[in-house]
Amino acid sequence: MFSKETYMQRRALLKKTVGSGILLFLGNDEHGLNYADNAFRYRQDSTFLYYFGLAFSGLSAIIDIDEDKDVIFGDELTIDHIVWMGTQPTLKEKSELVGVTHTMPSDTIVSYLHKAAQKGQTIHYLPPYRAEHNLKLLELLGISVGHEKVSLDFIRAIIKQRSYKSQEEIVEIEKACDITADMHITAMKVLRPGMKEYEVAAALEAVAAAAGADLSFPTIATINGQTLHNHYHGNTVKPGDLFLIDAGAEVPMGYAGDMSSTIPADKTFTLRQKEIYDLQVAMHLESVKALKPGIPFVDVYDLSARVMVEGMKQLGLMKGDADDAVREGAHALFYPHGLGHMMGLDVHDMENLGEVWVGYDGKPKSTLFGRKSLRLARPLEAGFVHTIEPGIYFIPELIDLWKEEKRFVDFINYDAVEAYKNFGGIRNEEDYLITETGARRLGKKIPLTTDEVEALR
Ligand code: GLY
Ligand code: MN
Repeated sequence: MFSKETYMQRRALLKKTVGSGILLFLGNDEHGLNYADNAFRYRQDSTFLYYFGLAFSGLSAIIDIDEDKDVIFGDELTIDHIVWMGTQPTLKEKSELVGVTHTMPSDTIVSYLHKAAQKGQTIHYLPPYRAEHNLKLLELLGISVGHEKVSLDFIRAIIKQRSYKSQEEIVEIEKACDITADMHITAMKVLRPGMKEYEVAAALEAVAAAAGADLSFPTIATINGQTLHNHYHGNTVKPGDLFLIDAGAEVPMGYAGDMSSTIPADKTFTLRQKEIYDLQVAMHLESVKALKPGIPFVDVYDLSARVMVEGMKQLGLMKGDADDAVREGAHALFYPHGLGHMMGLDVHDMENLGEVWVGYDGKPKSTLFGRKSLRLARPLEAGFVHTIEPGIYFIPELIDLWKEEKRFVDFINYDAVEAYKNFGGIRNEEDYLITETGARRLGKKIPLTTDEVEALR
């Protein structure tokens, strides 16, 4: 936990920005996996963590701006809880650690909000992303699923704060990034043909566990890297495969790391793998070079896509004008996702508040295949932390579909692409902090170039 002053300052700024009404924070509860006492890994809501710091289930909180009062609602543990879970500080003691002096039993929030509504106070709430949030909104405010009128003032005020990482947050993010880098470096050392994908996943996840960290999202460790979010780990690694890893650590304070790497199953890349890999590295490095305050991230994405098209033209896989190909969306056959996303307390930071507000500052998103998956497009500002993760993939079903539909035949040499349908996919990902003058990579460096990767094999 940070000092109580941090949480008090964060709440004070939020109150000032929203101006009036009541801000409602729904903490997350425990969830049974297959029965109540066998629960999923507990994760507090990130906005609750940011303003109230307490990673315990069964809590909710309000900031009553009109009364200038912050209240945490929860229940003291019973002797039964203590027998099974051990001694715990009281709710009052926990709340004092984050500078909150008012605590009330959990069931009193209903009458608090009821009275507030009767007084005509606006109750601001956030988009629900768990069934329990929907149930609570129904219980507390009588709002049923699909009828939410979430508060844009609240959402935008939070994004305005959480987008700019403080020095103490960067320290935590960098801890997560260092562990994340070690996870990837370990995988690069252990991967051998004949291993199961889950053995590699286990080796890298053990690094996070041994560092006292958790995972910031479910690990991707696959010989089928062309499937963007492939969580299946049951295949056997064969000679000649490319192995794609996208994995990250979450430190106890809740901050995330998120990196990707692509490793040859053999000790070296084949010539064909190296050609595509080098192109992906060029996309990555050109993007990193462009990072600075003021540049719209969509421009960096366009740049990465143009670099790819130029390289694919040299390999005989694409043709035509690169600018036109990118504008029209032909590159998305091989690069169907965005260039990166904000990262912080969530691996896709604040995504639950709405991508259009987090990544586009309220401007509309493209609906074009590929470009529509760009999570971050707005101009970068000092203090932003985001990923850089271009990729090149050969997705057989997508190639077949576009070929059949004769899509972008002026830009794509389908006959040449046919020979790559068994290639797989390549993605490398690093995490960056935008500084006053440019950008700084966060965490230890993981091998990126083919020489750097092969040196660990
Ligand atoms: N690391 C997974 C993702 O960025 O979607
Ligand atoms: Mn990512």
